[in-house]
Amino acid sequence: MRFLSALLAAASLVSTVKAHWLGEIKHQGYAPYTPAGYPVFRNVKDYGARGDGVTDDTAAINAAINAGNPCNRGCTSTTMTPAVVYFPAGTYLISSSILPAYFTQLIGDAANPPTLKATSNFAGFGLIDGNPYYTEVLNWKSVNVFFRQIRNFIIDTTNIPPATAATGIHWPTAQATSLQNIVFNMPTASNVVHVGLFIEEGSGGFMTDLTFNGGATGASMGNQQFTMRNFKFNNCKTAIIQIWNWGWTYHGLSINNCQVGIDMSAGGSSNLNVGSVTLLDSSFTNVPVAILTAWTPSSNPDTAGSLVIENIALNNVPVAIKGPSGTMLAGTTGTTTISAWSNGHRYTPSGPVEASGAINANPRPAALVSNGRFYTRSKPQYENLPVSSFISARSSGAKGDGATDDTAALQNAINSAVSQGKILFLDYGLYRVTSTIKIPPGAKVVGESFPVILSSGGFFNDINNPKPVVQVGSTSGQAGQVELSDFIIGTQNAQAGAVCIEWNLATSGTPSGMWDVHVRIGGYTGSQQQVAQCLKQPGSAAVNKNCIVAYMAMHVTKGASNLYMENVWLWTADHDIDDAANTQITLYSGRGLYIESQNGPFWLWGTGSEHHVLYQYQLANTKNIFMGQIQTETPYFQPTPNALVPFSPVSSLNDPDFAASCAGVSGNCANAWGLRVINSQDVLVYGAGLYSFFNNYSTACSTFTAGQTCQQRITSIEGSASNVNIYNLNTIGTREMLNRNGAQVAWYADNANTFASNIAVYKSD
Ligand SMILES: *[C@@H]1O[C@H](CO)[C@@H](O)[C@H](O)[C@H]1NC(C)=O
Repeated sequence: MRFLSALLAAASLVSTVKAHWLGEIKHQGYAPYTPAGYPVFRNVKDYGARGDGVTDDTAAINAAINAGNPCNRGCTSTTMTPAVVYFPAGTYLISSSILPAYFTQLIGDAANPPTLKATSNFAGFGLIDGNPYYTEVLNWKSVNVFFRQIRNFIIDTTNIPPATAATGIHWPTAQATSLQNIVFNMPTASNVVHVGLFIEEGSGGFMTDLTFNGGATGASMGNQQFTMRNFKFNNCKTAIIQIWNWGWTYHGLSINNCQVGIDMSAGGSSNLNVGSVTLLDSSFTNVPVAILTAWTPSSNPDTAGSLVIENIALNNVPVAIKGPSGTMLAGTTGTTTISAWSNGHRYTPSGPVEASGAINANPRPAALVSNGRFYTRSKPQYENLPVSSFISARSSGAKGDGATDDTAALQNAINSAVSQGKILFLDYGLYRVTSTIKIPPGAKVVGESFPVILSSGGFFNDINNPKPVVQVGSTSGQAGQVELSDFIIGTQNAQAGAVCIEWNLATSGTPSGMWDVHVRIGGYTGSQQQVAQCLKQPGSAAVNKNCIVAYMAMHVTKGASNLYMENVWLWTADHDIDDAANTQITLYSGRGLYIESQNGPFWLWGTGSEHHVLYQYQLANTKNIFMGQIQTETPYFQPTPNALVPFSPVSSLNDPDFAASCAGVSGNCANAWGLRVINSQDVLVYGAGLYSFFNNYSTACSTFTAGQTCQQRITSIEGSASNVNIYNLNTIGTREMLNRNGAQVAWYADNANTFASNIAVYKSD
């Protein structure tokens, strides 16, 4: 009896320090394009890291990262060497930078996040340097850094003398990257110069759940665009320095006891570097100046420094917004809430009107809101579940080798996980499927470093008979809830009828969710939609049928409702990631994201849709949509051929036909829409970057000197529109920024920003 109770006590002791399931699960991710034995999963302790707070673990951690020779120093980019580098709980002392490879995820125990603690003589640009300067240029071209995550860490620079330069994470990256659940601990001495997060360039991106304690600057950042939410800043001198940007969306900032909240004054009034900032549902407490700007009615460029804020709580913030000549918006030594305010150009609905001052806050449909803020939910990591709650796709018989037909094995794995109430762990692999994979109500699927569900074969190659690759809910309006994270849906060879995701599910209560689930069409090994098959042909309007690779990226059908999307990138490749020169390729994917849900609600936090032929985002007959920094690009080959080639417009899908709308319109009118909204209401866009950089593969059209002539139009609001509002619309390469029922609303040259053209506030009515 005594023996048994001792055993039970020991067992419970063990269970209180139970490791995260990710460390425990059988590791059998398979990277088919690597030499035998390539490890997808690496536990840093298996490579000699101690995590005891005493031993210098730098070399061991970097050895774990570099096992199997992934894409690190000198490598252009890759999709062939995925890696999960897992850190059990502990304190890992490091004396120089951790240097994660391309396509490598650094993941700490989500239940007990490990600490990376710098030694006092730490040397390096970032405790984690996500893109090092081995030469005077970054190791990876920042706008091509995709598919990388860091999550569940405490980054600690407190051993480094406060006046010695130190950076927590250096992260110049692009789409489909994320930082999640990270605490930055820095000294609070008055002479501190430490910076928590540093980004100087790139094309992001998404981050959430970061806390910055101490330091000179919590986050110092320049990048084309980002969506960031749930950041806490405590006792930083300046919480955020915005170095440069085109558009940036912040939600849920909590800035406490900092001298300045957001400093967006870079460049000064004569040459502003910061394009625009959208800030909502945030709070400032004990902050003398919440926002510091250099915008004035006569600052340059004309619309740079555009700022829109909504639902901002102040508690002892004497100055809410400070400009070059003093207070622009007073705060309070007590408490108040700013409903909404903007500076920059307004079209409500016509303009431009240059103004700074209060605006009417967007009416928020109740369906989108929780506790007074737009609803949010971070990616679930299931850290409290035991490993027995997971079923592995490979243990269930799926091969993931990019060649075997895994349709039946993968479907069986999903079905058996659902019937047992378990989570499907999609071990790394490329799961080739030849008919639709059905995701039923109740499914939870978690990928390991972005495995791919890859459609293949004739079933998906009929342009007149489209088929879903992954179908969520078998009929439009089927009831149920699902949670999907960390995987990719793609297509192989010609797939002219492939709808990568069809979303049918109607969810009540907690929304269904997609987190870090991407559509990646072509440009990688296994897709056979690469340089060898689909090399760009500038000037040729002839279509190679082998390069018609998708019908639509994602279709949200009429009966679907209540879906939360976070960090979702629907990308048709413009270049081959696995080509050492990143050579450009011409692929034809018909449509990006199409939402025709009758009721909503849908949240799109940090989503992008790029290089689809007819449109990137189209909303029709829908309502209750939140979009927070959407980002689009037009196909580089257009207008050779234009958007009517090779997909004939389908009226039942409300496809644009560019017939009446382009009659008599000069320029490249029949080019892909960035955003098209038809007969919809309560569509609230908080930041949009709609870009057209190319014309027949030349960027010469995308500058102000060239007259932004890549295409004629990019944003269209058609039919009835009620409460269809856009904050900080940034367009590039298009002459007309926004059209209403075919008529031009805004002209690029009236709204010049740093590189884009910007409208701070557009309201449809
Ligand atoms: C497209 O670009 C190619 C290569 O630069 C050039 O030869 C061709 O004339 C261009 N075509 C058009 C229609 O501008």
